[in-house]
Amino acid sequence: MTDLVLYRSALFHTPGNPFTGDVLQTLTDGGVAVQAGRILATGDFAEVRAAYPAAPVHDLRGGVLLPGLVDTHVHYPQLRVLGGLGMPLLEWLDRNTLPEEARLSDRPYARELARDFLGALAAHGTTTALVFGSHYRSAMEEFFDVAGHSGLRIASGLVLSDRLLRPELHTTPEAAFEESRALIRQFHGRGRLRYAVTPRFSLSASEGILEACGALMHEAEGVHFTSHLNENVAEIEAVRDLFPWAQDYLDTYDRYGLVSRASVFAHNIHPSGRELSRMAAAGCTVSHCPCSNSALGSGLFPLRRHLEAGVPVALGTDVGGGTGFSLFKEGLQALFMQQLTPPEQRAALTPAHLLYLATLAGAQALGLQDEVGDFRPGKAFDAVLIRPQAGTPLDILMRHADNPGRVLAGLFTLSGAADVRQVWVEGETVHQPREHADA
Ligand code: GUN
Ligand code: ZN
Repeated sequence: MTDLVLYRSALFHTPGNPFTGDVLQTLTDGGVAVQAGRILATGDFAEVRAAYPAAPVHDLRGGVLLPGLVDTHVHYPQLRVLGGLGMPLLEWLDRNTLPEEARLSDRPYARELARDFLGALAAHGTTTALVFGSHYRSAMEEFFDVAGHSGLRIASGLVLSDRLLRPELHTTPEAAFEESRALIRQFHGRGRLRYAVTPRFSLSASEGILEACGALMHEAEGVHFTSHLNENVAEIEAVRDLFPWAQDYLDTYDRYGLVSRASVFAHNIHPSGRELSRMAAAGCTVSHCPCSNSALGSGLFPLRRHLEAGVPVALGTDVGGGTGFSLFKEGLQALFMQQLTPPEQRAALTPAHLLYLATLAGAQALGLQDEVGDFRPGKAFDAVLIRPQAGTPLDILMRHADNPGRVLAGLFTLSGAADVRQVWVEGETVHQPREHADA
Protein backbone atom coordinates (compact mmCIF):
# COMPACT_ATOMS: atom_id res chain seq x y z
CA MET A 1 0.00 0.00 0.00
CA THR A 2 2.65 2.42 -1.12
CA ASP A 3 0.60 5.55 -1.62
CA LEU A 4 -1.11 5.33 1.77
CA VAL A 5 -0.50 8.48 3.83
CA LEU A 6 -1.72 9.78 7.17
CA TYR A 7 -2.56 13.41 7.82
CA ARG A 8 -2.16 14.51 11.43
CA SER A 9 -3.96 17.69 12.49
CA ALA A 10 -6.77 19.14 14.52
CA LEU A 11 -9.88 18.69 12.42
CA PHE A 12 -13.54 19.55 12.28
CA HIS A 13 -16.28 18.12 10.10
CA THR A 14 -20.04 17.60 10.12
CA PRO A 15 -20.79 14.00 9.08
CA GLY A 16 -24.51 14.80 9.17
CA ASN A 17 -26.94 17.69 9.37
CA PRO A 18 -26.70 19.76 12.58
CA PHE A 19 -30.15 21.24 11.87
CA THR A 20 -31.55 17.81 12.69
CA GLY A 21 -29.02 16.50 15.27
CA ASP A 22 -25.73 17.29 16.98
CA VAL A 23 -23.17 15.97 14.54
CA LEU A 24 -20.10 18.19 14.70
CA GLN A 25 -17.03 15.97 15.06
CA THR A 26 -14.02 17.63 16.60
CA LEU A 27 -10.62 15.96 16.89
CA THR A 28 -7.89 17.97 18.61
CA ASP A 29 -5.19 15.49 17.54
CA GLY A 30 -6.87 13.91 14.54
CA GLY A 31 -5.68 11.49 11.90
CA VAL A 32 -6.97 10.82 8.40
CA ALA A 33 -5.67 7.82 6.47
CA VAL A 34 -5.82 8.41 2.72
CA GLN A 35 -5.03 6.07 -0.15
CA ALA A 36 -5.33 6.97 -3.81
CA GLY A 37 -7.27 10.07 -2.81
CA ARG A 38 -9.85 8.12 -0.73
CA ILE A 39 -10.31 8.30 3.02
CA LEU A 40 -9.75 4.91 4.69
CA ALA A 41 -10.12 6.04 8.30
CA THR A 42 -10.70 9.19 10.35
CA GLY A 43 -10.28 9.38 14.11
CA ASP A 44 -7.89 10.19 16.91
CA PHE A 45 -4.38 10.14 15.50
CA ALA A 46 -3.24 7.44 17.92
CA GLU A 47 -5.97 5.08 16.73
CA VAL A 48 -5.46 5.73 13.03
CA ARG A 49 -1.71 5.37 13.55
CA ALA A 50 -2.19 2.02 15.27
CA ALA A 51 -4.21 0.79 12.29
CA TYR A 52 -1.58 1.93 9.78
CA PRO A 53 1.74 1.80 11.67
CA ALA A 54 3.99 1.91 8.60
CA ALA A 55 2.34 4.73 6.68
CA PRO A 56 4.21 8.03 6.28
CA VAL A 57 2.72 10.91 8.26
CA HIS A 58 2.11 14.47 7.03
CA ASP A 59 2.33 16.34 10.28
CA LEU A 60 0.06 19.38 9.95
CA ARG A 61 -0.23 20.14 13.65
CA GLY A 62 -0.64 23.81 14.45
CA GLY A 63 -3.28 24.04 11.76
CA VAL A 64 -6.87 22.88 11.39
CA LEU A 65 -8.14 20.59 8.64
CA LEU A 66 -11.64 21.12 7.31
CA PRO A 67 -13.44 19.43 4.42
CA GLY A 68 -13.01 21.35 1.16
CA LEU A 69 -15.52 24.20 1.02
CA VAL A 70 -18.43 24.17 -1.42
CA ASP A 71 -19.66 27.37 -3.08
CA THR A 72 -23.10 26.83 -4.61
CA HIS A 73 -23.40 30.23 -6.30
CA VAL A 74 -20.51 32.26 -7.70
CA HIS A 75 -20.23 34.12 -11.04
CA TYR A 76 -17.11 33.56 -13.16
CA PRO A 77 -17.48 36.82 -15.18
CA GLN A 78 -17.83 38.99 -12.09
CA LEU A 79 -14.41 38.82 -10.43
CA ARG A 80 -13.53 42.33 -11.59
CA VAL A 81 -16.85 43.91 -10.58
CA LEU A 82 -16.46 43.13 -6.88
CA GLY A 83 -16.74 46.30 -4.83
CA GLY A 84 -19.54 47.92 -6.86
CA LEU A 85 -21.35 48.88 -3.70
CA GLY A 86 -24.47 50.87 -2.97
CA MET A 87 -26.86 49.85 -5.78
CA PRO A 88 -29.92 47.61 -5.78
CA LEU A 89 -29.90 44.55 -8.03
CA LEU A 90 -31.29 45.88 -11.32
CA GLU A 91 -29.22 49.07 -11.29
CA TRP A 92 -26.13 47.09 -10.21
CA LEU A 93 -26.60 44.74 -13.17
CA ASP A 94 -27.06 47.59 -15.63
CA ARG A 95 -24.31 49.90 -14.49
CA ASN A 96 -21.74 47.71 -12.82
CA THR A 97 -21.94 44.19 -14.11
CA LEU A 98 -23.37 43.64 -17.59
CA PRO A 99 -20.80 45.92 -19.32
CA GLU A 100 -18.06 43.70 -17.85
CA GLU A 101 -19.91 40.50 -18.82
CA ALA A 102 -19.96 41.75 -22.43
CA ARG A 103 -16.12 41.89 -22.39
CA LEU A 104 -16.02 38.10 -22.21
CA SER A 105 -16.79 37.94 -25.92
CA ASP A 106 -13.02 38.34 -26.21
CA ARG A 107 -11.50 34.86 -25.87
CA PRO A 108 -8.10 35.83 -24.40
CA TYR A 109 -9.85 38.11 -21.90
CA ALA A 110 -12.16 35.26 -20.92
CA ARG A 111 -9.22 32.86 -20.49
CA GLU A 112 -7.25 35.21 -18.28
CA LEU A 113 -10.33 35.81 -16.16
CA ALA A 114 -10.97 32.06 -15.88
CA ARG A 115 -7.44 31.55 -14.53
CA ASP A 116 -7.81 34.34 -12.00
CA PHE A 117 -11.28 33.21 -10.96
CA LEU A 118 -10.43 29.54 -10.46
CA GLY A 119 -7.22 30.52 -8.66
CA ALA A 120 -9.27 32.65 -6.28
CA LEU A 121 -11.66 29.79 -5.54
CA ALA A 122 -8.82 27.44 -4.59
CA ALA A 123 -6.99 30.16 -2.65
CA HIS A 124 -10.04 30.52 -0.41
CA GLY A 125 -10.30 26.79 0.27
CA THR A 126 -13.17 26.16 -2.13
CA THR A 127 -12.81 22.76 -3.77
CA THR A 128 -16.26 22.41 -5.32
CA ALA A 129 -18.34 25.14 -6.95
CA LEU A 130 -21.51 25.61 -8.93
CA VAL A 131 -20.34 28.46 -11.12
CA PHE A 132 -22.63 30.84 -12.99
CA GLY A 133 -20.96 31.08 -16.36
CA SER A 134 -20.72 33.55 -19.22
CA HIS A 135 -23.18 34.36 -22.00
CA TYR A 136 -20.52 33.45 -24.58
CA ARG A 137 -19.81 29.93 -25.76
CA SER A 138 -16.17 30.80 -26.49
CA ALA A 139 -15.73 32.05 -22.91
CA MET A 140 -17.27 28.83 -21.58
CA GLU A 141 -14.88 26.73 -23.66
CA GLU A 142 -11.98 28.63 -22.12
CA PHE A 143 -13.49 28.39 -18.66
CA PHE A 144 -14.08 24.63 -18.81
CA ASP A 145 -10.63 24.08 -20.24
CA VAL A 146 -8.94 25.98 -17.41
CA ALA A 147 -11.29 24.41 -14.83
CA GLY A 148 -10.36 20.94 -16.09
CA HIS A 149 -6.71 21.68 -15.45
CA SER A 150 -7.37 23.27 -12.05
CA GLY A 151 -8.32 19.97 -10.42
CA LEU A 152 -11.35 21.60 -8.77
CA ARG A 153 -14.84 20.11 -8.94
CA ILE A 154 -16.72 22.57 -11.11
CA ALA A 155 -20.27 22.57 -12.41
CA SER A 156 -21.06 25.40 -14.80
CA GLY A 157 -22.81 26.32 -18.01
CA LEU A 158 -23.55 28.86 -20.69
CA VAL A 159 -25.76 31.65 -19.32
CA LEU A 160 -28.92 32.12 -21.37
CA SER A 161 -30.94 35.30 -21.90
CA ASP A 162 -32.87 36.78 -24.79
CA ARG A 163 -34.28 40.02 -23.42
CA LEU A 164 -33.81 43.04 -21.16
CA LEU A 165 -30.05 42.82 -20.61
CA ARG A 166 -28.08 44.29 -23.53
CA PRO A 167 -28.16 43.05 -27.11
CA GLU A 168 -24.60 41.63 -27.04
CA LEU A 169 -25.63 39.27 -24.24
CA HIS A 170 -28.78 37.99 -25.92
CA THR A 171 -29.20 34.71 -27.75
CA THR A 172 -32.18 32.89 -29.29
CA PRO A 173 -33.93 29.77 -28.00
CA GLU A 174 -32.49 27.76 -30.92
CA ALA A 175 -28.91 28.94 -30.36
CA ALA A 176 -29.30 28.51 -26.59
CA PHE A 177 -30.26 24.88 -27.12
CA GLU A 178 -27.60 24.08 -29.74
CA GLU A 179 -24.71 25.81 -27.97
CA SER A 180 -25.59 24.36 -24.57
CA ARG A 181 -25.90 20.91 -26.07
CA ALA A 182 -22.51 21.25 -27.75
CA LEU A 183 -20.90 22.30 -24.46
CA ILE A 184 -22.58 19.42 -22.62
CA ARG A 185 -21.13 16.98 -25.15
CA GLN A 186 -17.71 18.60 -24.90
CA PHE A 187 -17.36 18.94 -21.14
CA HIS A 188 -20.07 17.28 -19.01
CA GLY A 189 -18.58 14.37 -17.09
CA ARG A 190 -15.04 15.10 -18.26
CA GLY A 191 -12.92 14.51 -15.15
CA ARG A 192 -14.42 16.59 -12.35
CA LEU A 193 -16.44 18.86 -14.66
CA ARG A 194 -20.22 18.88 -14.76
CA TYR A 195 -22.65 20.92 -16.82
CA ALA A 196 -25.32 23.23 -15.37
CA VAL A 197 -28.17 24.51 -17.55
CA THR A 198 -28.31 28.20 -16.64
CA PRO A 199 -30.97 30.72 -17.69
CA ARG A 200 -29.87 33.99 -16.04
CA PHE A 201 -33.31 34.60 -14.48
CA SER A 202 -36.88 34.56 -15.75
CA LEU A 203 -36.76 38.33 -16.13
CA SER A 204 -34.24 38.00 -18.98
CA ALA A 205 -35.46 34.66 -20.36
CA SER A 206 -38.44 34.29 -22.67
CA GLU A 207 -40.66 31.25 -22.54
CA GLY A 208 -38.71 29.98 -25.55
CA ILE A 209 -35.44 30.04 -23.58
CA LEU A 210 -37.03 28.30 -20.59
CA GLU A 211 -38.49 25.68 -22.91
CA ALA A 212 -35.04 25.09 -24.42
CA CYS A 213 -33.69 24.65 -20.86
CA GLY A 214 -36.40 22.08 -20.17
CA ALA A 215 -35.45 20.19 -23.32
CA LEU A 216 -31.77 20.17 -22.29
CA MET A 217 -32.61 18.89 -18.80
CA HIS A 218 -34.76 16.18 -20.31
CA GLU A 219 -32.14 15.10 -22.81
CA ALA A 220 -28.88 15.20 -20.87
CA GLU A 221 -28.17 12.76 -18.06
CA GLY A 222 -26.92 14.11 -14.75
CA VAL A 223 -26.74 17.79 -15.62
CA HIS A 224 -27.48 20.43 -13.01
CA PHE A 225 -29.82 23.38 -13.26
CA THR A 226 -29.26 26.78 -11.70
CA SER A 227 -30.77 30.25 -11.80
CA HIS A 228 -31.87 33.18 -9.63
CA LEU A 229 -35.15 33.35 -7.71
CA ASN A 230 -37.02 35.88 -5.54
CA GLU A 231 -34.00 38.07 -4.91
CA ASN A 232 -35.27 41.63 -5.13
CA VAL A 233 -38.76 43.10 -4.80
CA ALA A 234 -38.61 45.12 -8.06
CA GLU A 235 -37.34 42.04 -9.91
CA ILE A 236 -40.20 39.92 -8.57
CA GLU A 237 -42.79 42.50 -9.67
CA ALA A 238 -41.31 42.64 -13.15
CA VAL A 239 -41.38 38.84 -13.42
CA ARG A 240 -45.02 38.85 -12.35
CA ASP A 241 -45.83 41.26 -15.22
CA LEU A 242 -43.93 39.17 -17.77
CA PHE A 243 -45.55 35.85 -16.81
CA PRO A 244 -49.21 36.66 -16.12
CA TRP A 245 -50.11 32.97 -16.19
CA ALA A 246 -47.63 31.98 -13.47
CA GLN A 247 -48.72 31.42 -9.87
CA ASP A 248 -45.44 32.93 -8.64
CA TYR A 249 -41.77 33.29 -9.62
CA LEU A 250 -40.95 29.61 -9.02
CA ASP A 251 -43.77 28.60 -11.33
CA THR A 252 -42.03 30.33 -14.26
CA TYR A 253 -39.32 27.65 -13.97
CA ASP A 254 -41.59 24.84 -12.86
CA ARG A 255 -43.76 25.11 -15.98
CA TYR A 256 -40.73 23.98 -18.02
CA GLY A 257 -39.61 21.13 -15.77
CA LEU A 258 -36.81 23.13 -14.18
CA VAL A 259 -37.63 22.56 -10.51
CA SER A 260 -36.14 19.26 -9.36
CA ARG A 261 -33.44 17.72 -7.19
CA ALA A 262 -30.95 18.87 -9.85
CA SER A 263 -31.89 22.55 -9.31
CA VAL A 264 -30.12 25.16 -7.21
CA PHE A 265 -31.83 28.55 -6.93
CA ALA A 266 -29.84 31.51 -5.64
CA HIS A 267 -31.30 33.89 -3.02
CA ASN A 268 -35.02 33.13 -2.53
CA ILE A 269 -35.30 35.95 -0.01
CA HIS A 270 -38.99 36.65 -0.63
CA PRO A 271 -40.73 33.29 -1.20
CA SER A 272 -44.39 32.54 -0.76
CA GLY A 273 -45.54 29.60 1.34
CA ARG A 274 -46.57 27.81 -1.83
CA GLU A 275 -43.14 28.20 -3.35
CA LEU A 276 -41.45 26.76 -0.26
CA SER A 277 -43.81 23.75 -0.19
CA ARG A 278 -43.20 23.10 -3.86
CA MET A 279 -39.43 23.41 -3.46
CA ALA A 280 -39.45 20.98 -0.55
CA ALA A 281 -41.51 18.48 -2.55
CA ALA A 282 -39.20 18.82 -5.55
CA GLY A 283 -36.03 18.55 -3.42
CA CYS A 284 -34.30 21.53 -4.99
CA THR A 285 -31.79 23.58 -3.01
CA VAL A 286 -31.59 27.27 -2.18
CA SER A 287 -28.17 28.88 -2.31
CA HIS A 288 -28.11 31.43 0.49
CA CYS A 289 -25.80 34.34 -0.34
CA PRO A 290 -25.84 36.57 2.75
CA CYS A 291 -23.01 38.95 1.77
CA SER A 292 -24.69 39.66 -1.56
CA ASN A 293 -28.08 40.03 0.11
CA SER A 294 -26.49 42.65 2.37
CA ALA A 295 -24.40 44.41 -0.28
CA LEU A 296 -27.29 44.78 -2.74
CA GLY A 297 -29.77 45.48 0.04
CA SER A 298 -31.91 42.61 -1.21
CA GLY A 299 -33.29 41.65 2.20
CA LEU A 300 -33.16 39.26 5.15
CA PHE A 301 -33.18 35.59 4.20
CA PRO A 302 -36.03 33.64 5.85
CA LEU A 303 -33.87 30.67 6.83
CA ARG A 304 -36.27 29.45 9.48
CA ARG A 305 -39.14 29.26 6.98
CA HIS A 306 -36.92 27.23 4.66
CA LEU A 307 -35.93 24.86 7.46
CA GLU A 308 -39.50 24.45 8.67
CA ALA A 309 -40.72 23.79 5.13
CA GLY A 310 -37.92 21.26 4.57
CA VAL A 311 -36.14 23.13 1.77
CA PRO A 312 -32.41 22.31 1.66
CA VAL A 313 -30.13 25.36 2.00
CA ALA A 314 -26.41 25.74 1.25
CA LEU A 315 -24.09 28.76 0.94
CA GLY A 316 -22.96 30.84 -2.02
CA THR A 317 -20.61 33.81 -2.24
CA ASP A 318 -22.39 35.30 -5.27
CA VAL A 319 -19.22 37.00 -6.48
CA GLY A 320 -19.50 39.79 -7.61
CA GLY A 321 -22.88 40.80 -6.06
CA GLY A 322 -21.26 39.46 -2.90
CA THR A 323 -18.10 40.70 -1.24
CA GLY A 324 -15.52 38.05 -2.09
CA PHE A 325 -14.69 34.35 -2.29
CA SER A 326 -14.63 33.45 1.39
CA LEU A 327 -17.22 30.96 2.55
CA PHE A 328 -16.12 31.71 6.12
CA LYS A 329 -17.28 35.27 5.60
CA GLU A 330 -20.59 34.00 4.18
CA GLY A 331 -21.11 31.83 7.24
CA LEU A 332 -20.41 34.74 9.56
CA GLN A 333 -22.71 37.05 7.63
CA ALA A 334 -25.45 34.39 7.64
CA LEU A 335 -25.22 34.30 11.42
CA PHE A 336 -25.21 38.10 11.69
CA MET A 337 -28.27 38.43 9.51
CA GLN A 338 -30.22 35.82 11.42
CA GLN A 339 -29.54 37.88 14.54
CA LEU A 340 -31.05 40.89 12.79
CA THR A 341 -34.16 38.89 11.82
CA PRO A 342 -37.23 39.38 14.06
CA PRO A 343 -37.13 36.76 16.87
CA GLU A 344 -40.21 34.86 15.72
CA GLN A 345 -38.63 34.29 12.29
CA ARG A 346 -35.01 33.80 13.35
CA ALA A 347 -32.94 30.62 12.97
CA ALA A 348 -30.19 30.55 15.59
CA LEU A 349 -26.91 29.46 14.01
CA THR A 350 -23.89 27.89 15.72
CA PRO A 351 -20.41 27.36 14.23
CA ALA A 352 -21.42 23.73 13.54
CA HIS A 353 -24.31 24.95 11.39
CA LEU A 354 -21.97 27.27 9.52
CA LEU A 355 -19.49 24.48 8.81
CA TYR A 356 -22.27 22.22 7.58
CA LEU A 357 -23.69 24.95 5.32
CA ALA A 358 -20.22 25.60 3.85
CA THR A 359 -19.39 21.92 3.24
CA LEU A 360 -21.79 18.96 3.35
CA ALA A 361 -24.91 21.03 2.55
CA GLY A 362 -23.24 22.19 -0.67
CA ALA A 363 -22.17 18.65 -1.53
CA GLN A 364 -25.78 17.51 -1.04
CA ALA A 365 -27.03 20.33 -3.28
CA LEU A 366 -24.85 18.98 -6.07
CA GLY A 367 -25.58 15.31 -5.47
CA LEU A 368 -21.99 14.81 -4.29
CA GLN A 369 -22.80 13.77 -0.71
CA ASP A 370 -21.31 10.30 -1.20
CA GLU A 371 -18.14 11.79 -2.62
CA VAL A 372 -17.25 14.88 -0.57
CA GLY A 373 -18.47 17.20 2.20
CA ASP A 374 -16.94 15.54 5.28
CA PHE A 375 -14.14 13.16 6.29
CA ARG A 376 -16.09 9.92 6.55
CA PRO A 377 -14.27 6.84 5.21
CA GLY A 378 -15.04 6.15 1.56
CA LYS A 379 -15.16 9.81 0.60
CA ALA A 380 -12.53 11.63 -1.42
CA PHE A 381 -9.93 13.56 0.57
CA ASP A 382 -11.02 17.08 -0.38
CA ALA A 383 -9.64 19.28 2.37
CA VAL A 384 -8.37 22.68 3.36
CA LEU A 385 -5.64 23.36 5.90
CA ILE A 386 -6.02 26.60 7.83
CA ARG A 387 -2.95 27.75 9.71
CA PRO A 388 -2.67 31.44 10.53
CA GLN A 389 0.58 33.37 10.56
CA ALA A 390 2.14 33.54 13.99
CA GLY A 391 1.00 36.54 15.96
CA THR A 392 -2.19 37.25 14.03
CA PRO A 393 -5.43 37.46 16.03
CA LEU A 394 -6.55 34.08 14.69
CA ASP A 395 -3.26 32.47 15.71
CA ILE A 396 -3.54 33.91 19.19
CA LEU A 397 -7.15 32.78 19.48
CA MET A 398 -6.30 29.25 18.32
CA ARG A 399 -3.44 28.89 20.76
CA HIS A 400 -5.43 30.14 23.73
CA ALA A 401 -8.95 28.83 23.03
CA ASP A 402 -10.16 26.68 25.91
CA ASN A 403 -12.44 24.53 23.78
CA PRO A 404 -12.66 23.43 20.14
CA GLY A 405 -15.98 25.23 19.55
CA ARG A 406 -14.18 28.52 20.15
CA VAL A 407 -11.60 27.59 17.52
CA LEU A 408 -14.30 26.85 14.94
CA ALA A 409 -16.08 30.12 15.78
CA GLY A 410 -12.71 31.87 15.46
CA LEU A 411 -12.16 30.40 11.99
CA PHE A 412 -15.49 31.77 10.77
CA THR A 413 -14.83 35.13 12.41
CA LEU A 414 -11.21 35.73 11.48
CA SER A 415 -9.85 33.50 8.76
CA GLY A 416 -9.15 34.64 5.22
CA ALA A 417 -7.19 33.52 2.18
CA ALA A 418 -3.87 34.31 3.91
CA ASP A 419 -4.59 31.51 6.38
CA VAL A 420 -5.26 28.87 3.70
CA ARG A 421 -2.00 26.89 3.55
CA GLN A 422 -2.92 23.90 1.45
CA VAL A 423 -5.96 22.64 -0.43
CA TRP A 424 -6.51 19.09 -1.69
CA VAL A 425 -9.01 17.53 -4.08
CA GLU A 426 -9.07 13.74 -4.00
CA GLY A 427 -5.69 13.77 -2.30
CA GLU A 428 -4.04 16.00 -4.93
CA THR A 429 -2.79 19.41 -3.92
CA VAL A 430 -4.67 22.07 -5.88
CA HIS A 431 -3.39 25.08 -3.97
CA GLN A 432 -0.31 25.67 -1.88
CA PRO A 433 1.09 29.17 -1.73
CA ARG A 434 4.78 29.16 -2.56
CA GLU A 435 5.97 30.83 0.61
CA HIS A 436 4.37 28.01 2.58
CA ALA A 437 5.54 25.17 0.37
CA ASP A 438 7.21 23.55 3.40
CA ALA A 439 3.84 23.18 5.18
N1 GUN B 1 -30.00 38.10 -11.13
C1 GUN B 1 -29.71 38.03 -12.45
N2 GUN B 1 -28.40 38.16 -12.67
C2 GUN B 1 -27.83 38.32 -11.46
C3 GUN B 1 -26.48 38.48 -11.02
O1 GUN B 1 -25.54 38.53 -11.80
N3 GUN B 1 -26.28 38.61 -9.69
C4 GUN B 1 -27.30 38.55 -8.79
N4 GUN B 1 -27.02 38.68 -7.49
N5 GUN B 1 -28.57 38.40 -9.17
C5 GUN B 1 -28.84 38.28 -10.49
ZN1 ZN C 1 -26.01 35.45 -8.69
